[in-house]
Amino acid sequence: MKLNIAKLPGDGIGPEVVAQAVKAVDAVCARFGHEAVYTFAPVGACAIEATGSAYPDSTHQVCLESDAVLFGAVGDPKYDNDPTAKVRPEQGLLAMRKQLGLYANLRPVETFEALAHKSPLKEELVRGADFLCVRELTGGMYFGEKGRRDGGDTAFDTNLYHRFEVERILKLAYEYAMRRRKHLTVVDKANVLESSRLWRQIAQEMAPQYPEVTTDYMYVDNAAMQLIRCPKWFDVLVTENTFGDILTDEASCITGSMGLLASASIGAHTGVFEPIHGSYPQAAGKDIANPLAAILSAAMMFEYAFGLMEEGRAIREAVAASIDSGFVTEDLADGGAAHGTSEVGDWIANRIKKS
Ligand code: IPM
Ligand code: MN
Repeated sequence: MKLNIAKLPGDGIGPEVVAQAVKAVDAVCARFGHEAVYTFAPVGACAIEATGSAYPDSTHQVCLESDAVLFGAVGDPKYDNDPTAKVRPEQGLLAMRKQLGLYANLRPVETFEALAHKSPLKEELVRGADFLCVRELTGGMYFGEKGRRDGGDTAFDTNLYHRFEVERILKLAYEYAMRRRKHLTVVDKANVLESSRLWRQIAQEMAPQYPEVTTDYMYVDNAAMQLIRCPKWFDVLVTENTFGDILTDEASCITGSMGLLASASIGAHTGVFEPIHGSYPQAAGKDIANPLAAILSAAMMFEYAFGLMEEGRAIREAVAASIDSGFVTEDLADGGAAHGTSEVGDWIANRIKKS
């Protein structure tokens, strides 16, 4: 199979970790007889420097014409410390999600047995935790009307949701719940927010269509607590954009390192596969960043974009093997030798080719 992949490494550690994901993709292609063709396109701060836009039209065209997008990260401290900046790297990511119609962000939280002790939570709470966060990605406060009034001293962001947006994400979440342990948790703030009451109302309307699925409703503040109190309780968690952003950072550390959480954004057009960790500028260029989330995102790309499950599994097995052998970056090393980003990438690619 020919795989046309848009390569958008972005900023910070993005280029380093995407380079390792590419090694894994190439190794899988060599083993299973596929051909991957990459088209590079700029996004984020580097795109602003080059073109003035964080998501140039030319980049959008490359994405539209590809079968999948391998994405790194966007962000630069230069903009973080300047709240008045007119163009921001993050706008590149948001524009990409919106323009590609990627309304669903899937963030699986899976624990690796050999890493349970790295979690800030007690091992017995973490061992066996396995849930899927389904985050709505193109609505809510991120995209609702926003602005300033009173000469700039009053600011607002609108948490706007339309019925169709809620219905389609809940439908998807139910479908994943059906394929998993048939337990869906709808997370909202329906005791306070009108938008959350719409979510809950629609979820209650839809629940009878999925009689095999146990649906429960949880306020987001409680969910933040339950995620660390009892992560194993969750199977599929679905929520709006902002809550999903916050809860998935929290969920990522359950597994031991944020450098492990991969994600897939899917919807109308080409799917985007990216680590959730962000650009981590302090580590950029040092060859110390953990590439596993990016490599696992490549596994998700094979599974979700190409329907090539065995290829995805080959990557997952190699990642698990690197963890079991202690061939890991410094965030996961236990006092033992820490390996560089690219060494870990090479180890995993070799493992994929050999097994
Ligand atoms: C994420 C990131 C983005 C978000 C930022 C970089 C805009 O934190 O993918 O979770 O908030 O969605
Ligand atoms: Mn985030």
